[in-house]
Amino acid sequence: MKEYWNKRYAGRCNSGAGSSGLFRAFVHETLHGLRIPMEKSLLDYGCGDIQLWKNFRIEDYTGLDISNTIIRRNKKKFPHHKFIMQDDLTEMYDVSFCISVIFHILDKKELFRVLVDLATHTKETIVISYWEQEPPNVNPEYERYWAHSEWGFILVDLGWKFTSLHYSGDKYNVICVFEKRETE
Ligand SMILES: C[S@@+](CC[C@H](N)C(=O)[O-])C[C@H]1O[C@@H](n2cnc3c(N)ncnc32)[C@H](O)[C@@H]1O
Repeated sequence: MKEYWNKRYAGRCNSGAGSSGLFRAFVHETLHGLRIPMEKSLLDYGCGDIQLWKNFRIEDYTGLDISNTIIRRNKKKFPHHKFIMQDDLTEMYDVSFCISVIFHILDKKELFRVLVDLATHTKETIVISYWEQEPPNVNPEYERYWAHSEWGFILVDLGWKFTSLHYSGDKYNVICVFEKRETE
């Protein structure tokens, strides 16, 4: 997958339709509604070209991606934000996002790695978007449908509780929120 995204970003392509238009509006509206405290430290896992955050107030932002091409480009373009590669994830963040990434992971081991990273490097809230049902015309070159039941348990096992689900208006894209469980 790294090769796919590097090639795509090297061709000056963007992160895809999910970073703009109606889906971006849905993400912004959902986060406003949830009153996610955007002044806290934020990790954006699979950040892409960060166009998703256009016109959205983000302060203490760290973008992480599998593509070194987009990380290099982002560092130049957005010097006031931090950008890291997957292997450089060491810090803890208050809130983590993983938007339009899950269905671009083809390998189960990689999917689990991403979820474990999110679970173990986030203090309060994890926001994930995924497909609630399999859309038609999934392109197996860079897309795969994962049912929530195939991965949600990882976060639960690692101390997180599923708190809400938000529908985008199409039948496929949803946003779900996990909060850290209180330890007894
Ligand atoms: C469709 S883009 C979404 C970008 C951004 N989150 C957004 O919503 O606009 C998917 C991004 O996930 C990244 N990605 C794919 N697999 C990944 C993985 N295993 N770990 C980290 N990033 C990954 C890709 O490089 C790409 O930038």
